[in-house]
Amino acid sequence: MADLTTNYMGLQLRNPIIAASSGLTNSVEDIKEFEENGVGAIVLKSIFEEEIRRELEKDLNSMNMENFLYPETMEYYDNYAEDDTLTNYLGLIRESKKAVNIPIIASINCVTAEKWPYYAETLQDAGADALELNVFVMPSDFNKSSEENEQVYFDVVNKVKKHVKIPVSLKISYYSSNLGAFIQKLSNTGIDGLVLFNRFYSPDIDINSLDVLSTNVTSESSELPISLRWIGMMHNRVGCDLAASTGIHDGSAIIKQILAGANVVEIASAFYKNGKGILKDMINDLSLWMEQKGYKSLDDFRGKVSQDKAKNPAAYERMQFMKYFSGKGL
Ligand SMILES: Cc1cc2nc3c(=O)[nH]c(=O)nc-3n(C[C@H](O)[C@H](O)[C@H](O)COP(=O)(O)O)c2cc1C
Repeated sequence: MADLTTNYMGLQLRNPIIAASSGLTNSVEDIKEFEENGVGAIVLKSIFEEEIRRELEKDLNSMNMENFLYPETMEYYDNYAEDDTLTNYLGLIRESKKAVNIPIIASINCVTAEKWPYYAETLQDAGADALELNVFVMPSDFNKSSEENEQVYFDVVNKVKKHVKIPVSLKISYYSSNLGAFIQKLSNTGIDGLVLFNRFYSPDIDINSLDVLSTNVTSESSELPISLRWIGMMHNRVGCDLAASTGIHDGSAIIKQILAGANVVEIASAFYKNGKGILKDMINDLSLWMEQKGYKSLDDFRGKVSQDKAKNPAAYERMQFMKYFSGKGL
């Protein structure tokens, strides 16, 4: 059987398939099932500072209405209530580490600058093998320059890296005015891995109720090319490992991402749609393809079709439908 083991950010994985951060990586039971089905590592559901703050505000508002708000209550909430949510998350890290042998990567999303290093250090101390920073700045403040928006990512990475010893990855979106240079600059900050890309809720409009709704919560396999393009273009141009995410639904998509240059893949939607059992098919398809091609390890073909090695590198940058398709009726 082909050797599927791989190294990601210094962590030894039995294969390159990581269960991406989602509601499916939020309990020890699910994590055990992922391990039983063969996953290489787990990224836990993100801990969201914003959610903790909203909960606190809700509690404080209801107490305020009932004249419950004494200075002692405020002090309690400042010191302990936040710890409550954190404590649950730390429990998830500790219990998962006890229950499984695969690496556990904790995931953080903060809104205030000073909380990033605090959460990072606390999750490290609870036993996380690595951290994934789920950073997103929506470029919707028209008074901010693209440099100001992008600086947030560098500040977060620099702060967190100073506070922890375990490997740290950064999960980003493709909303950047100069994406290639941005990814390259981030990869040289000392970060251990970059995840290309996160995927978010998309808006839709209900034409009857006139409400804005969330739509397309899970991805389609047709979304693969966005991350495939950027993994292929950034391979050998970055100073850290690359994890591909979005639109990876089967073994062939995993093979494509590794051929493009990914160290690992992070998958969520395929598990929502098909269950964790699909991992076995993915692993079988990858092994079988490697055997057919005569590849003994992932390094034998990783990056073989990246932009710098592909026979037709321009295809990675081609965007317009010019002449090429004209003879095909498109
Ligand atoms: C229901 C759901 C919840 C998610 N929650 C998180 C999260 O808490 N943190 C995070 O970084 N990504 C989260 N994601 C994004 C996934 O980790 C993944 O990057 C994205 O869905 C693209 O991969 P996919 O095409 O395999 O779904 C979530 C995705 C889904 C579908």
